[in-house]
Amino acid sequence: MDPVKVGLLGLGTVGGGTVNVLQRNAEEITRRAGRGIVVTHAAARDLNKPRICSTEGITVTTTPQDVVEDPEVAIVVELIGGDTLALDLVMRAIENGKHVVTANKALIAKHGNEIFAAAQAKGVIVAFEAAVAGGIPIIKAIREGLAGNRIEWLAGIINGTGNFILTEMRDKGRDFNDVLKEAQELGYAEADPEFDVEGIDAAHKLTILASIAFGIPLQFEKAFTEGITKITREDVTYAEELGYRIKHLGVTRRTDKGIELRVHPTLIPERRLIANVDGVMNAVLVKGDAVGPTLYYGPGAGDEPTASAVVADIVDVVRVLTSDPENRVPHLAFQPDSLSDLPILKMEEVETAYYLRMQAKDEPGVLADVTRILGDKGISIEAIIQKEPEGDSTEANVIMLTHTVVEKQMNDAIQKIESLDTISGEVVRIRMESLEAS
Ligand code: NDP
Ligand code: HSE
Repeated sequence: MDPVKVGLLGLGTVGGGTVNVLQRNAEEITRRAGRGIVVTHAAARDLNKPRICSTEGITVTTTPQDVVEDPEVAIVVELIGGDTLALDLVMRAIENGKHVVTANKALIAKHGNEIFAAAQAKGVIVAFEAAVAGGIPIIKAIREGLAGNRIEWLAGIINGTGNFILTEMRDKGRDFNDVLKEAQELGYAEADPEFDVEGIDAAHKLTILASIAFGIPLQFEKAFTEGITKITREDVTYAEELGYRIKHLGVTRRTDKGIELRVHPTLIPERRLIANVDGVMNAVLVKGDAVGPTLYYGPGAGDEPTASAVVADIVDVVRVLTSDPENRVPHLAFQPDSLSDLPILKMEEVETAYYLRMQAKDEPGVLADVTRILGDKGISIEAIIQKEPEGDSTEANVIMLTHTVVEKQMNDAIQKIESLDTISGEVVRIRMESLEAS
């Protein structure tokens, strides 16, 4: 049988890695797919740029439209990024009856509903394993491996750049911007690195995970997002003294009132495996009612780890090229006409525990005022530590851990605490998750 011809949109970090993996492992891949797979046509912006892969035998163009119009190409692999040109190209490829593989989480999180509807109408596959957690096959694990479960919640470190920055800052005391620069050089960061550090990239991925976990439409615009730029070394140190690690976590949970969908820095007990996931590694903890907690771990970014997921999707597509579209695994795990309209909760409706840090005047009665405000809002305190003022300062750092409370109550309490004369500046608030399996 003739090899399947693939058109590649983008020859950068992931595109280059994909060519390398397809070429190096061609024999194994052919044995798995039942047919050879060759990249015949590719698009990039600059034909003179040095590449991490060989482009021998590949027609390279600066006009990506040529790739999606190429009648020889059966599978279009979108690795350009963004959600403007990429959206046009993917929709056109679908219109042309081509299967699509993409690593583009922004595209899927924001436009997945319309993309999958168009793909279903046309009977083509749109595969996106590489869009979440790099090389970890988390989409397949949830969509297929956990198909017998009612998923209760999942929590993940799903941005490699952010985790790399937090780890290097904590372990080596390195400067935030210096580590970010290194992540960019290593090809981990998004074209706009704000997406990484402000949690937007993680929110894209979480949106996708929530959709396949709970059978709900993609609703990126309702995700709560808080970045890691305000995390200080002080808070990292205090958290560790209390037995916690600070991680940038995506959390989605099914509750009686709706679905939580949130990305924010989070204190996690240091004894949890996920609290010890460092560097560019990602991990996703999924709690199913039948299986209990399951943990998936692996590299979250980089050329070949991501290519591993892209190539797996290409192999999947090749394996089912001749199968009846009705019998394929649904894009979003659940049958398209069986998606649920569970509401996404606003952040102020979410219930969680908190780490609070405040600068308090070192005088009698201050702590009593703070605890009264918390008590009035129904917030109970799990632990308090007070750090002696340093040097000539008359202010002490007070750190509190609270039990779970609805975020709205905490917002009100923080506002009142900040208005006390004895408290200076803003109260630092970091959410806390026990991630207990029960
Ligand atoms: P790169 O910036 O390294 O690559 C983008 C590629 O697209 C480049 O080859 C670029 O060409 C090409 N390109 C951009 N605009 C055009 C255009 N108008 N016409 C033709 N070609 C164009 O990005 P990555 O490989 O890092 O990321 C690609 C996608 O994969 C993104 O959606 C990203 O979010 C996702 N992803 C990335 C991961 C990573 O670790 N990097 C991991 C998981 C997902 P040229 O090279 O000439 O500039
Ligand atoms: N910029 C992303 C990250 C790439 O660092 O996780 C992988 O999706």
